[in-house]
Amino acid sequence: MTIRVCLAGATGWVGRGLVPALAASGDLELVGAVSRRAAGRPLSEVLGMPSPSLTVRASLEEALAAPCDVLIDYTRPEAVRRHVLSAVGRGIACVVGTSGLSSAEYEEIDAAARARGVGVLAAGNFALTAVLLQRFAEVAARHVPQWEILEYARAGKPDAPSGTARELAARLARVRLVDRDSVRPFRRTSLDPTRLGGRGDALRGRNPSRRS
Ligand SMILES: NC(=O)c1ccc[n+]([C@@H]2O[C@H](COP(=O)([O-])OP(=O)(O)OC[C@H]3O[C@@H](n4cnc5c(N)ncnc54)[C@H](OP(=O)(O)O)[C@@H]3O)[C@@H](O)[C@H]2O)c1
Repeated sequence: MTIRVCLAGATGWVGRGLVPALAASGDLELVGAVSRRAAGRPLSEVLGMPSPSLTVRASLEEALAAPCDVLIDYTRPEAVRRHVLSAVGRGIACVVGTSGLSSAEYEEIDAAARARGVGVLAAGNFALTAVLLQRFAEVAARHVPQWEILEYARAGKPDAPSGTARELAARLARVRLVDRDSVRPFRRTSLDPTRLGGRGDALRGRNPSRRS
């Protein structure tokens, strides 16, 4: 069985990698692509690579005119909530890679997905090391008096703090609430240390990212 996929953010850094991966998968078929700036153009021309003969659409609603089974979203925090709720409302399952959703937005999506009986897989960072860092940090936060997240990123990174750092902060806050200044962006290197502990007793987790 072929699973029909609509890709929101098809022209972005992640989207450009997903298009050939979808083509190579064998059981996934790209049937819709969304990007505002590339709207109306053939996807293959925009990406400069072989891809299904698709015209890029300006909005998710236009792209969903072609029937699909799954929405993959790698766009921006300000667009993803609306995209996912729209897809879920149509009974379309979602894979959400876009980072930066708040806890309230995750809960809203979760409730909508359960009510509609639709699957949604959402992870603002699918990197195995980031997932492990989050899990280890949550465990550690139960046993130490305080935590802080120091994020190091390239100067041009658009979101500060990043979605990954904000999601980690929200998860740690559910374990132990600390000062709201405990997520601090630094624009220097590509390291993302999380420090847990108190005076003279600290634990540090790092998730280096190639792109930050
Ligand atoms: N889960 C993970 O492991 C993981 C890994 C990497 C990145 N991310 C996250 O994934 C997201 C995308 O990352 P990226 O590096 O690919 O970003 P990017 O290069 O800036 O690409 C964003 C894409 O989304 C489209 N887009 C942006 N705003 C939109 C809107 N309002 N409506 C429709 N399309 C919109 C852009 O096209 P137009 O501007 O032309 O509309 C572009 O195609 C970010 O939130 C990033 O933090 C997650």
